[in-house]
Amino acid sequence: MRLSLPFKTIQWVGETDGFLRIIDQTLLPEREAYLNLYTVDELFDAIRQLKVRGAPAIGVAAAYGLSLVLREAEENTKKLKDELKRAAEKLRSARPTAVNLFYGIDRVLKESLSFADSVSPQLLKKTVLASARRLQQEDERMCESLGEQGSQLIKDGYTVLTNCNAGALATCGIGTALACVYTAVGQGRRVSVVCCETRPLLQGARLSTWELLKAKIPTTLICDNMAGALMRQGKINAVFVGADRIAANGDIANKIGTYPLACLAKIHSIPFYVVAPSSSFDLNTPSGEKIPIEERPAEEVTFIQKRIRTAPEGVSVFNPAFDVTPAHLITAIVWEGGIISPPFEQTIKGVFKEKTLCR
Ligand code: MRU
Repeated sequence: MRLSLPFKTIQWVGETDGFLRIIDQTLLPEREAYLNLYTVDELFDAIRQLKVRGAPAIGVAAAYGLSLVLREAEENTKKLKDELKRAAEKLRSARPTAVNLFYGIDRVLKESLSFADSVSPQLLKKTVLASARRLQQEDERMCESLGEQGSQLIKDGYTVLTNCNAGALATCGIGTALACVYTAVGQGRRVSVVCCETRPLLQGARLSTWELLKAKIPTTLICDNMAGALMRQGKINAVFVGADRIAANGDIANKIGTYPLACLAKIHSIPFYVVAPSSSFDLNTPSGEKIPIEERPAEEVTFIQKRIRTAPEGVSVFNPAFDVTPAHLITAIVWEGGIISPPFEQTIKGVFKEKTLCR
Protein backbone atom coordinates (compact mmCIF):
# COMPACT_ATOMS: atom_id res chain seq x y z
CA MET A 1 0.00 0.00 0.00
CA ARG A 2 1.41 3.39 -0.99
CA LEU A 3 1.21 6.07 1.61
CA SER A 4 0.00 9.55 0.86
CA LEU A 5 0.08 12.16 3.59
CA PRO A 6 -2.81 14.62 3.84
CA PHE A 7 -0.79 17.84 3.55
CA LYS A 8 1.47 19.54 1.04
CA THR A 9 4.79 20.95 2.22
CA ILE A 10 5.33 23.07 -0.92
CA GLN A 11 3.04 23.94 -3.83
CA TRP A 12 3.35 26.37 -6.70
CA VAL A 13 -0.10 27.84 -7.33
CA GLY A 14 -0.92 29.03 -10.83
CA GLU A 15 1.34 29.62 -13.79
CA THR A 16 4.25 32.04 -14.31
CA ASP A 17 2.37 34.79 -12.46
CA GLY A 18 1.54 32.40 -9.61
CA PHE A 19 2.96 32.12 -6.10
CA LEU A 20 4.50 29.64 -3.68
CA ARG A 21 2.37 28.14 -0.91
CA ILE A 22 4.09 26.44 2.03
CA ILE A 23 2.84 24.88 5.20
CA ASP A 24 4.14 27.21 7.94
CA GLN A 25 6.21 24.76 9.99
CA THR A 26 6.81 27.23 12.81
CA LEU A 27 3.11 26.97 13.71
CA LEU A 28 2.98 23.18 13.90
CA PRO A 29 1.65 21.25 15.74
CA GLU A 30 -0.69 23.87 17.17
CA ARG A 31 -1.98 25.05 13.80
CA GLU A 32 -1.86 23.65 10.29
CA ALA A 33 -1.74 26.88 8.32
CA TYR A 34 -0.51 27.67 4.84
CA LEU A 35 1.47 30.74 3.89
CA ASN A 36 1.49 32.29 0.42
CA LEU A 37 4.82 33.75 -0.69
CA TYR A 38 4.92 36.29 -3.52
CA THR A 39 8.45 37.68 -3.39
CA VAL A 40 12.02 36.46 -3.04
CA ASP A 41 12.37 38.49 0.16
CA GLU A 42 9.36 36.70 1.67
CA LEU A 43 10.80 33.33 0.69
CA PHE A 44 14.24 34.28 2.03
CA ASP A 45 12.70 35.13 5.42
CA ALA A 46 10.61 31.93 5.39
CA ILE A 47 13.73 29.82 4.82
CA ARG A 48 15.75 31.73 7.46
CA GLN A 49 12.96 31.35 10.01
CA LEU A 50 12.43 27.65 9.18
CA LYS A 51 8.85 28.17 8.04
CA VAL A 52 9.98 25.93 5.22
CA ARG A 53 12.86 23.68 6.22
CA GLY A 54 14.63 20.37 5.63
CA ALA A 55 17.35 20.10 2.99
CA PRO A 56 15.33 18.81 -0.01
CA ALA A 57 12.40 21.15 0.70
CA ILE A 58 14.52 24.30 0.85
CA GLY A 59 16.24 23.28 -2.41
CA VAL A 60 12.91 23.07 -4.21
CA ALA A 61 11.53 26.20 -2.50
CA ALA A 62 14.60 28.18 -3.62
CA ALA A 63 14.17 26.87 -7.16
CA TYR A 64 10.62 28.24 -7.15
CA GLY A 65 12.05 31.45 -5.71
CA LEU A 66 13.57 32.12 -9.11
CA SER A 67 10.06 32.07 -10.55
CA LEU A 68 8.91 34.48 -7.85
CA VAL A 69 11.45 37.07 -8.95
CA LEU A 70 10.16 36.94 -12.51
CA ARG A 71 6.44 36.79 -11.83
CA GLU A 72 5.65 40.45 -12.28
CA ALA A 73 8.66 41.52 -14.29
CA GLU A 74 8.00 42.69 -17.83
CA GLU A 75 11.42 43.94 -18.84
CA ASN A 76 13.56 42.58 -21.60
CA THR A 77 15.28 39.23 -21.28
CA LYS A 78 18.66 40.72 -20.41
CA LYS A 79 17.16 42.52 -17.38
CA LEU A 80 15.31 39.39 -16.29
CA LYS A 81 18.55 37.44 -16.48
CA ASP A 82 20.19 39.96 -14.14
CA GLU A 83 17.20 39.72 -11.80
CA LEU A 84 17.53 35.95 -11.75
CA LYS A 85 21.20 36.13 -10.82
CA ARG A 86 20.53 38.67 -8.06
CA ALA A 87 17.73 36.52 -6.61
CA ALA A 88 19.93 33.43 -6.80
CA GLU A 89 22.67 35.18 -4.78
CA LYS A 90 20.19 36.29 -2.14
CA LEU A 91 18.63 32.83 -1.78
CA ARG A 92 22.03 31.16 -1.60
CA SER A 93 22.80 33.23 1.50
CA ALA A 94 19.68 32.09 3.35
CA ARG A 95 21.24 29.03 5.01
CA PRO A 96 24.76 27.64 4.52
CA THR A 97 24.71 23.93 5.40
CA ALA A 98 22.18 22.09 3.22
CA VAL A 99 23.79 21.63 -0.17
CA ASN A 100 20.34 20.99 -1.70
CA LEU A 101 19.69 24.73 -1.51
CA PHE A 102 22.58 25.40 -3.87
CA TYR A 103 21.72 22.39 -6.00
CA GLY A 104 18.14 23.64 -6.58
CA ILE A 105 19.24 27.16 -7.50
CA ASP A 106 22.06 25.97 -9.77
CA ARG A 107 19.79 23.50 -11.55
CA VAL A 108 17.28 26.19 -12.51
CA LEU A 109 19.97 28.68 -13.53
CA LYS A 110 21.73 26.07 -15.65
CA GLU A 111 18.52 24.99 -17.38
CA SER A 112 17.34 28.51 -18.10
CA LEU A 113 20.28 30.88 -18.48
CA SER A 114 22.17 29.05 -21.21
CA PHE A 115 19.76 30.14 -23.93
CA ALA A 116 18.12 33.07 -22.16
CA ASP A 117 19.35 35.79 -24.53
CA SER A 118 17.61 34.27 -27.48
CA VAL A 119 14.16 33.85 -25.93
CA SER A 120 11.27 36.16 -25.06
CA PRO A 121 10.76 37.18 -21.42
CA GLN A 122 7.59 35.04 -21.36
CA LEU A 123 9.43 31.96 -22.55
CA LEU A 124 12.19 32.53 -20.02
CA LYS A 125 9.58 32.67 -17.24
CA LYS A 126 8.05 29.43 -18.47
CA THR A 127 11.45 27.74 -18.64
CA VAL A 128 12.33 28.74 -15.08
CA LEU A 129 8.99 27.53 -13.73
CA ALA A 130 9.18 24.26 -15.66
CA SER A 131 12.65 23.64 -14.28
CA ALA A 132 11.52 24.18 -10.68
CA ARG A 133 8.50 21.92 -11.26
CA ARG A 134 10.77 19.19 -12.61
CA LEU A 135 12.93 19.45 -9.52
CA GLN A 136 9.87 19.07 -7.30
CA GLN A 137 8.70 15.98 -9.21
CA GLU A 138 12.18 14.50 -9.06
CA ASP A 139 12.26 15.08 -5.31
CA GLU A 140 8.92 13.29 -4.92
CA ARG A 141 10.21 10.34 -6.93
CA MET A 142 13.50 10.29 -5.02
CA CYS A 143 11.58 10.01 -1.74
CA GLU A 144 9.68 6.98 -3.08
CA SER A 145 12.96 5.35 -4.13
CA LEU A 146 14.64 6.14 -0.81
CA GLY A 147 11.69 4.46 0.88
CA GLU A 148 12.01 1.39 -1.35
CA GLN A 149 15.73 1.11 -0.70
CA GLY A 150 15.82 1.94 3.00
CA SER A 151 12.77 -0.13 3.96
CA GLN A 152 14.82 -3.26 3.19
CA LEU A 153 16.79 -2.47 6.34
CA ILE A 154 13.69 -2.47 8.56
CA LYS A 155 12.44 -5.83 9.87
CA ASP A 156 9.00 -6.61 11.22
CA GLY A 157 8.71 -5.42 14.83
CA TYR A 158 11.55 -2.89 14.61
CA THR A 159 11.71 0.27 16.68
CA VAL A 160 13.55 2.96 14.78
CA LEU A 161 15.03 6.04 16.43
CA THR A 162 15.25 9.31 14.51
CA ASN A 163 16.39 12.89 15.06
CA CYS A 164 14.89 16.16 13.81
CA ASN A 165 12.41 15.76 10.95
CA ALA A 166 13.50 13.90 7.85
CA GLY A 167 9.96 13.19 6.78
CA ALA A 168 7.39 14.57 4.38
CA LEU A 169 7.67 18.03 5.94
CA ALA A 170 11.34 18.16 4.94
CA THR A 171 10.76 17.17 1.31
CA CYS A 172 8.23 17.29 -1.51
CA GLY A 173 7.37 13.62 -1.07
CA ILE A 174 7.25 11.12 1.80
CA GLY A 175 10.61 12.13 3.25
CA THR A 176 14.03 10.52 3.48
CA ALA A 177 14.63 8.69 6.79
CA LEU A 178 10.90 8.51 7.50
CA ALA A 179 10.19 7.37 3.92
CA CYS A 180 11.87 4.08 4.91
CA VAL A 181 9.45 3.70 7.83
CA TYR A 182 6.39 4.65 5.75
CA THR A 183 7.36 2.19 3.04
CA ALA A 184 8.09 -0.66 5.46
CA VAL A 185 4.69 -0.09 7.09
CA GLY A 186 3.06 0.08 3.65
CA GLN A 187 4.61 -3.32 2.94
CA GLY A 188 2.85 -4.72 6.00
CA ARG A 189 5.60 -4.65 8.62
CA ARG A 190 4.98 -3.41 12.14
CA VAL A 191 7.33 -0.53 12.87
CA SER A 192 7.38 2.00 15.67
CA VAL A 193 9.38 5.20 15.83
CA VAL A 194 11.12 6.98 18.68
CA CYS A 195 11.55 10.70 17.97
CA CYS A 196 14.19 12.74 19.74
CA GLU A 197 12.63 16.11 20.50
CA THR A 198 15.56 17.96 18.86
CA ARG A 199 16.35 21.00 20.94
CA PRO A 200 16.39 23.91 20.45
CA LEU A 201 13.71 24.19 17.73
CA LEU A 202 11.97 20.89 18.46
CA GLN A 203 11.58 19.58 14.92
CA GLY A 204 11.35 16.04 16.33
CA ALA A 205 8.71 16.90 18.93
CA ARG A 206 6.66 19.29 16.81
CA LEU A 207 7.02 17.95 13.26
CA SER A 208 8.08 14.29 13.12
CA THR A 209 5.53 13.20 15.71
CA TRP A 210 2.85 15.28 13.93
CA GLU A 211 3.31 13.62 10.58
CA LEU A 212 3.89 10.13 12.03
CA LEU A 213 0.66 10.34 14.00
CA LYS A 214 -1.15 11.48 10.85
CA ALA A 215 0.21 8.33 9.19
CA LYS A 216 -0.98 6.30 12.22
CA ILE A 217 2.51 5.01 13.01
CA PRO A 218 3.15 4.15 16.70
CA THR A 219 5.38 7.00 17.86
CA THR A 220 7.12 7.78 21.13
CA LEU A 221 8.64 11.15 21.91
CA ILE A 222 11.76 11.40 24.08
CA CYS A 223 13.98 14.26 25.21
CA ASP A 224 17.33 14.25 23.43
CA ASN A 225 19.18 13.11 26.54
CA MET A 226 17.09 9.92 26.85
CA ALA A 227 18.34 8.14 23.74
CA GLY A 228 21.29 6.46 25.49
CA ALA A 229 19.08 4.96 28.19
CA LEU A 230 16.75 3.45 25.57
CA MET A 231 19.63 2.03 23.57
CA ARG A 232 21.15 0.49 26.70
CA GLN A 233 17.80 -1.13 27.50
CA GLY A 234 17.80 -2.76 24.06
CA LYS A 235 14.73 -0.81 22.92
CA ILE A 236 16.15 0.57 19.66
CA ASN A 237 16.82 -1.64 16.63
CA ALA A 238 18.20 0.97 14.26
CA VAL A 239 18.80 4.71 13.91
CA PHE A 240 17.61 6.40 10.70
CA VAL A 241 18.51 10.04 10.03
CA GLY A 242 18.61 12.40 7.07
CA ALA A 243 21.52 14.58 5.94
CA ASP A 244 21.98 18.18 4.91
CA ARG A 245 25.23 17.44 3.15
CA ILE A 246 27.30 14.34 2.51
CA ALA A 247 30.99 14.98 1.87
CA ALA A 248 33.06 12.95 -0.59
CA ASN A 249 34.53 10.81 2.21
CA GLY A 250 31.10 9.92 3.65
CA ASP A 251 31.11 12.35 6.59
CA ILE A 252 27.66 13.88 6.94
CA ALA A 253 26.22 17.07 8.37
CA ASN A 254 22.77 16.77 9.89
CA LYS A 255 20.71 18.38 12.63
CA ILE A 256 22.59 19.05 15.84
CA GLY A 257 22.44 15.97 18.05
CA THR A 258 22.96 13.49 15.23
CA TYR A 259 26.65 12.95 16.06
CA PRO A 260 26.04 11.93 19.72
CA LEU A 261 23.35 9.50 18.50
CA ALA A 262 25.88 7.94 16.12
CA CYS A 263 28.39 7.56 18.99
CA LEU A 264 25.74 5.96 21.18
CA ALA A 265 24.65 3.65 18.37
CA LYS A 266 28.24 2.54 17.85
CA ILE A 267 28.75 1.76 21.55
CA HIS A 268 25.51 -0.26 21.63
CA SER A 269 26.14 -2.02 18.28
CA ILE A 270 22.99 -0.52 16.77
CA PRO A 271 23.06 0.16 13.01
CA PHE A 272 23.17 3.85 12.13
CA TYR A 273 21.70 4.65 8.69
CA VAL A 274 21.79 7.93 6.80
CA VAL A 275 19.10 8.38 4.15
CA ALA A 276 19.50 11.14 1.55
CA PRO A 277 18.91 11.80 -2.15
CA SER A 278 21.76 12.41 -4.61
CA SER A 279 21.07 16.16 -4.30
CA SER A 280 22.51 15.98 -0.76
CA PHE A 281 25.91 14.64 -1.88
CA ASP A 282 28.64 17.23 -2.30
CA LEU A 283 31.64 15.64 -3.93
CA ASN A 284 33.40 19.01 -4.02
CA THR A 285 33.63 18.97 -0.24
CA PRO A 286 36.29 16.42 0.68
CA SER A 287 35.34 15.88 4.34
CA GLY A 288 32.99 16.98 7.09
CA GLU A 289 35.51 19.50 8.42
CA LYS A 290 34.89 21.60 5.34
CA ILE A 291 31.09 21.66 5.63
CA PRO A 292 29.92 25.14 6.70
CA ILE A 293 27.86 24.85 9.86
CA GLU A 294 25.07 27.35 10.40
CA GLU A 295 25.01 29.17 13.74
CA ARG A 296 21.64 30.52 14.80
CA PRO A 297 20.45 33.22 17.23
CA ALA A 298 21.00 32.82 20.98
CA GLU A 299 17.29 33.37 21.67
CA GLU A 300 16.51 29.96 20.18
CA VAL A 301 18.36 28.45 23.14
CA THR A 302 17.38 30.91 25.89
CA PHE A 303 13.68 30.78 25.06
CA ILE A 304 11.31 27.90 24.30
CA GLN A 305 9.32 28.68 21.16
CA LYS A 306 10.11 32.40 21.59
CA ARG A 307 7.75 32.41 24.57
CA ILE A 308 9.32 31.06 27.76
CA ARG A 309 12.70 32.28 28.93
CA THR A 310 14.83 29.36 30.18
CA ALA A 311 18.13 31.12 30.91
CA PRO A 312 19.16 34.47 32.40
CA GLU A 313 19.54 37.45 30.11
CA GLY A 314 23.15 38.02 29.10
CA VAL A 315 24.34 34.41 29.31
CA SER A 316 26.70 33.45 26.53
CA VAL A 317 25.21 30.92 24.09
CA PHE A 318 26.58 28.65 21.35
CA ASN A 319 23.88 27.53 18.92
CA PRO A 320 25.16 25.48 15.96
CA ALA A 321 22.21 24.13 13.95
CA PHE A 322 24.08 21.08 12.65
CA ASP A 323 26.87 18.72 13.59
CA VAL A 324 29.13 16.45 11.58
CA THR A 325 29.01 12.68 11.96
CA PRO A 326 32.23 11.08 10.73
CA ALA A 327 31.92 8.32 8.17
CA HIS A 328 33.35 5.65 10.47
CA LEU A 329 30.24 5.85 12.67
CA ILE A 330 27.85 5.28 9.74
CA THR A 331 26.69 1.74 8.93
CA ALA A 332 25.33 2.59 5.47
CA ILE A 333 24.08 5.50 3.39
CA VAL A 334 20.81 4.97 1.55
CA TRP A 335 20.33 7.01 -1.64
CA GLU A 336 17.68 6.67 -4.35
CA GLY A 337 19.87 4.29 -6.35
CA GLY A 338 20.69 1.82 -3.59
CA ILE A 339 22.56 1.32 -0.33
CA ILE A 340 26.17 2.48 -0.07
CA SER A 341 28.44 0.65 2.38
CA PRO A 342 31.89 1.55 3.75
CA PRO A 343 34.60 2.32 2.82
CA PHE A 344 32.63 5.40 1.74
CA GLU A 345 35.57 7.26 0.25
CA GLN A 346 35.70 4.59 -2.48
CA THR A 347 32.06 3.52 -2.69
CA ILE A 348 30.67 7.06 -3.02
CA LYS A 349 33.14 7.80 -5.77
CA GLY A 350 32.13 4.57 -7.51
CA VAL A 351 28.41 5.34 -7.34
CA PHE A 352 28.72 8.89 -8.65
CA LYS A 353 31.47 8.27 -11.20
CA GLU A 354 28.91 7.91 -13.97
CA LYS A 355 26.51 10.46 -12.59
CA THR A 356 27.17 14.16 -13.13
CA LEU A 357 25.99 16.06 -10.12
CA CYS A 358 24.71 19.44 -11.18
CA ARG A 359 26.83 22.06 -9.45
O1 MRU B 1 17.22 23.07 10.49
P1 MRU B 1 16.37 22.10 9.72
O2 MRU B 1 15.09 21.79 10.39
O3 MRU B 1 16.19 22.53 8.28
O4 MRU B 1 17.24 20.77 9.70
C1 MRU B 1 16.78 19.66 8.97
C2 MRU B 1 17.60 18.46 9.13
O5 MRU B 1 18.62 18.46 9.78
C3 MRU B 1 17.17 17.23 8.39
O6 MRU B 1 17.52 16.09 9.08
C4 MRU B 1 17.86 17.23 7.02
O7 MRU B 1 17.62 18.44 6.34
C5 MRU B 1 17.43 16.11 6.18
S1 MRU B 1 15.74 16.29 5.77
C6 MRU B 1 15.24 15.14 4.69
